[in-house]
Amino acid sequence: MYRLVCVSCGADYAPDAILYRCSRCGHLLAVDYDLDTIAVSRADWNARPLSLWRYRELLPVAGAPVTLQEGGTPLYHLTRIGEDLGLPRLYAKHEGMNPSGSFKDRGMTVGVSMALQLGMTSVACASTGNTSASLAAYAAKAGIPAVVLLPAGKVALGKVAQALMHGAKVIAIRGNFDRALEMVQDLCESHGLYLLNSINPYRLEGQKTIGFEAIDQLGDVPDRMVLPVGNAGNISAVHKGLIELLRLGFIDRLPMMTGIQAAGSRPVVDAIEQGLAELVPARDPETVATAIRIGAPVNAEKALTAIRSTGGTAAAVTDEEILAMQRDLARKEGIGVEPASAASVAGVKKLVEAGVIDRDESIVCVVTGHLLKDPETVIRQCEPPIEIDADVQSLLSALSL
Ligand code: F0G
Repeated sequence: MYRLVCVSCGADYAPDAILYRCSRCGHLLAVDYDLDTIAVSRADWNARPLSLWRYRELLPVAGAPVTLQEGGTPLYHLTRIGEDLGLPRLYAKHEGMNPSGSFKDRGMTVGVSMALQLGMTSVACASTGNTSASLAAYAAKAGIPAVVLLPAGKVALGKVAQALMHGAKVIAIRGNFDRALEMVQDLCESHGLYLLNSINPYRLEGQKTIGFEAIDQLGDVPDRMVLPVGNAGNISAVHKGLIELLRLGFIDRLPMMTGIQAAGSRPVVDAIEQGLAELVPARDPETVATAIRIGAPVNAEKALTAIRSTGGTAAAVTDEEILAMQRDLARKEGIGVEPASAASVAGVKKLVEAGVIDRDESIVCVVTGHLLKDPETVIRQCEPPIEIDADVQSLLSALSL
């Protein structure tokens, strides 16, 4: 049993309302469960395979979901990077190991399932890339059309390829993500498509399971969870889920929620550093981490609460720091992630060096998307292959042997 509740004025709405904001005050909505009616124990959950659907009692989907077998992603112990930083308990939850290569699949399995449950027949989103790839895949699985709006020229190649191949109607606008989001909201309102950006409260329900899995894998609540922040949905989702576990008595404390942004796109960091009640949008966001090139994060209200109420923090990292950590993850840990994902670990490096993070903390970084999402940024950083004539002597001399 659940209802949609406004996070600001507390107005509540029936779960079948097609609403993305409170119709009374315009603020964000969240799915609010009657936790007294949730009859499940941690032992029940632990008996099921590690997957998003392990936690189905805390998800809004009633029938069989539209699923591509998302979740159950690896939690890696970052031993070498941890040693470099003096952090013996540093972990990465590799969300790039989801079906379409990013955490968005957790949101879309629930979001597209809810679209069908609510009787909607088409779906849409604006995206910096991953949301569009994921929506396209899940809409294909559901057999319904998808429209995706992308900022022209600012989406990594692998993501566009996915959205196109899975058969979405792909529109590139001559404007940035923030404008694309405004446009798709208008489109959905005027033409009845179901909006599956992270303003959709059901989508975030799927994403909250990142925190559930991390705790189950670690066997404990980490002291800190660190996430890259773009539209600020994921950090809000993980925090919301953990509050539910706390209220159910499944955990006894919350991790310090910590958000990392790119230096050229840091409105949440500014709001935290300056103690602002409301975020001031960044006008022209720019970063190599195009996934988080967002100036007006739609979930800022929830994210600021998540960070502040848990004693967490926010920090910005430069493009150079992001790319250096992308290389470290690849070369020291064998973990291939896209730039936005490396931002979370780069942020930990910065915060530990600044003395904000204690070295004895257990820290889970969410690395959000796979290396292959953005092959062009990878190739630009690496030496090209050494091309040789097809004989052994040339091979040996290329290897200096
Ligand atoms: N990491 C990656 C790889 C992403 O694609 C995104 C968001 C984020 C982090 C930030 O998550 O928005 O919940 O704060 N990508 C969106 C998209 C905006 O359209 O794919 P957030």
